[in-house]
Amino acid sequence: MVVASANASAGSAAEAAGHLTPGPILLLGAPGVGKGTQAKGLVKAWGIPQISTGDLLRSNVERGTEVGKQAKELMDRGELVPDELVNRMVAERLKEPDTARGYILDGFPRTLGQANWLDGHLGAQAGTLPVIAISIQVSYNQLLRRITGRRICPVCKTIYNTYLQPPKVDGICDKDGAQLVRRSDDSKEVFDERMRAYESLTAPVVEHYRKLGRFEEVDGELEVGAVTAGIMTAIARLRG
Ligand code: AP5
Repeated sequence: MVVASANASAGSAAEAAGHLTPGPILLLGAPGVGKGTQAKGLVKAWGIPQISTGDLLRSNVERGTEVGKQAKELMDRGELVPDELVNRMVAERLKEPDTARGYILDGFPRTLGQANWLDGHLGAQAGTLPVIAISIQVSYNQLLRRITGRRICPVCKTIYNTYLQPPKVDGICDKDGAQLVRRSDDSKEVFDERMRAYESLTAPVVEHYRKLGRFEEVDGELEVGAVTAGIMTAIARLRG
C-alpha cells in the first residue's frame, strides 16, 4: 500500500516535470543516502545518463587501467581519489553526446576543488543550463544499515538491501538470477572513514551550492518512490 501510493506520487511528479529539459543535476549526500538508487529513477523518467564517479572508478579498477591502479587502495580505505584524476574522468564523460539534454552527477563534486572545476567547466560552455544541486539527508544509524546491508547485481547493477530492500530470494537478483555481490568498501570500518571524508571535504561543497541558490534539501529517509517524487518536485521548482 505504502509502495503503491509512493509510486503514484513519483508518477505524478514525473508527469509534472515531464516537459522540462533537466540540464545538469547534482545529487549530493553522505555515503548510502541513496544517490545511486535515486539517479536510476531520474534516468528512467528523463532518459538522461547517470554519471557516477564511484561507478566509473570501480569500472577502471575492474579493468586494471592506470586510473584504477591509482584509485584502488584509496577507495578500499574510504579516502577520496585526487581531484585531478576524477575531474579528467568527468571531463571525458561529459563530451559524450548523450549528455546534451542533461545528466545526473552522482557523487561528484566531492571537494571544493572539484566544485570549482565543474563551475568553471560548465561556465565555459555556451548554452548550458545552470547546475541544480539536490542534497539528500539521512541519519547516521540509517546510513549504517544501508551501507552494511547493500548488495548489488553485478550484471544489471540493481541495488538491493538485505534489511530494507531485500531480493525475493536471498542473495539472488530478481531480474536476472545473478548472485548478488557486496562492495569491498561497505564494511563498518571503511564506512566510518568515508563519513569522515564526507564531513571534512564534501560538507563544504553542499554549503557552496546552497549559497549559489538553485539548491534544495530532500528527506532521504522516506520510501524510495517518495524520495524520487520529492527530488522531481524540487527539480521542477528550481527549473521553473
Ligand atoms: P561512491 O561509489 O560514490 O560511494 P558513496 O558516495 O559513498 O555513495 P554510495 O554509492 O555508497 O551510496 P549511495 O548514496 O549511492 O546509496 P545507494 O543508492 O547505493 O564512491 C566510492 C569511493 O570512490 C569513494 O569512497 C572514493 O574513494 C571514490 N570516489 C567516488 N567519487 C569520487 C570523487 N568525486 N572524488 C574523489 N573520490 C571519489 O543506497 C545505499 C543502500 O541503501 C542500498 O542498499 C539501497 O538499496 C538502500 N536504499 C537507498 N535508498 C533507500 C530508501 N529510500 N529506503 C530504504 N533503503 C534505501
